[in-house]
Amino acid sequence: ATAPEIHRGLAGVVVDTTEISTVIQETNSLTYRGYPVQDLAARRSFEEVAHLLWFGELPDEGQLRDFQARERALRPLDRTTLELLARLPETCHPMDVLRTAVSFFGAEDPTEDDGSPAANRAKSLTLLAKLPTVVAAEQRRRRGLAPIPPDPGLGYAENFFHMCFGNVPDPDVVRCFEISLTLYAEHSFNASTFTARVVTSTLSDLYSAVTAAVGALKGPLHGGANEAVMHMLLEIGDPRRAEAWLDEALAAKRKIMGFGHRVYKHGDSRVPIMQDALDRLVARAADPEVTRLATLHAALRHAMANRKGIHPNLDYPAGLAYHLMGFDIPVFTPIFVMSRITGWTAHITEQLAHNALIRPLASYDGRDQRAVPGAA
Ligand code: CMC
Repeated sequence: ATAPEIHRGLAGVVVDTTEISTVIQETNSLTYRGYPVQDLAARRSFEEVAHLLWFGELPDEGQLRDFQARERALRPLDRTTLELLARLPETCHPMDVLRTAVSFFGAEDPTEDDGSPAANRAKSLTLLAKLPTVVAAEQRRRRGLAPIPPDPGLGYAENFFHMCFGNVPDPDVVRCFEISLTLYAEHSFNASTFTARVVTSTLSDLYSAVTAAVGALKGPLHGGANEAVMHMLLEIGDPRRAEAWLDEALAAKRKIMGFGHRVYKHGDSRVPIMQDALDRLVARAADPEVTRLATLHAALRHAMANRKGIHPNLDYPAGLAYHLMGFDIPVFTPIFVMSRITGWTAHITEQLAHNALIRPLASYDGRDQRAVPGAA
């Protein structure tokens, strides 16, 4: 018999259809429900994008008001959740806190067993509303500060700054943050979304699927890369060291964080708009330390293009942008979760609408059958 063809990492394998988003290879563009992501980022709020991903259409004014009112009402955490989160070791990564929180929400949710589309929509909105409250509390806990309750008078992005820092920065900064949320929201069958779909395909519940997806996003080859980018920039330290550092890292076969992509081989279509937002943050900071980091960031990008011809992915500009917005590095990937929760839950709904158990095959290359010692 001929050996089966193996697709390691499922590279190039088309597993199912989706109506949610696609990368159009010819134009190197990403669309959500048909709309180019750069236009959504430039013209729409993150709440509108969440509505689009879940319901297939941008909301009209009334729908948006209703969506915002429901999201804002669900933001607070109850005392039990706050106590549980406060008991987790301060040494654990905020992604572990977030994973635990999602799992706990699942244990607490009285509709746990009801996987109907309406119940799942309600759970998705609950997670969208509550995850920022968890992330902000964690950002503060790491600085020894008490949580700040959500403000229902503020939009999704503004409220997050308020809960993290006790104030809302100027609209330019909020806008850059919101752009990052829109760009991070959805990306077809990426590793964490596929994880959520695998869990869902067994007819398990939404919280279990999202808990697993948080785990998949944590890794540095996926969402963890935005934190790894910042650690790397701080490790290099000086723009003049960028080239020598890169040569050493490549010689040691290190993966350079924030570069390369499974789908985009000629550049991540989300990068130009995020780089633009980053440039605006750098310009408004007018601070020599910030300028030095931005110069280093550019120097490494040029060196990588020259040495390997490999382009940055979204995590490269987003990592530095989050640093300049004042967030601590360990909450960068949790911020990614606050956004990608929209894409994950859209895919969970889609998977359930035409479910097929996801269960691939493996080609066995272990030992031939043999007798257990002592067995007849
Ligand atoms: N640094 C150094 N070499 C790289 C990198 C990189 N970042 N990315 C790809 N390459 C090389 C790779 O070593 C391989 O070379 P060779 O053919 O000589 O062995 C070639 O390019 C093809 O790469 P690959 O590993 O086969 O590509 P892949 O599709 O399996 O990997 C990736 C994609 C994202 C895992 C990889 O590019 C990587 O590890 N990047 C760094 C981590 C990162 O930034 N992840 C974020 C991904 S995008 C957004 C997100 O999910 O958060």
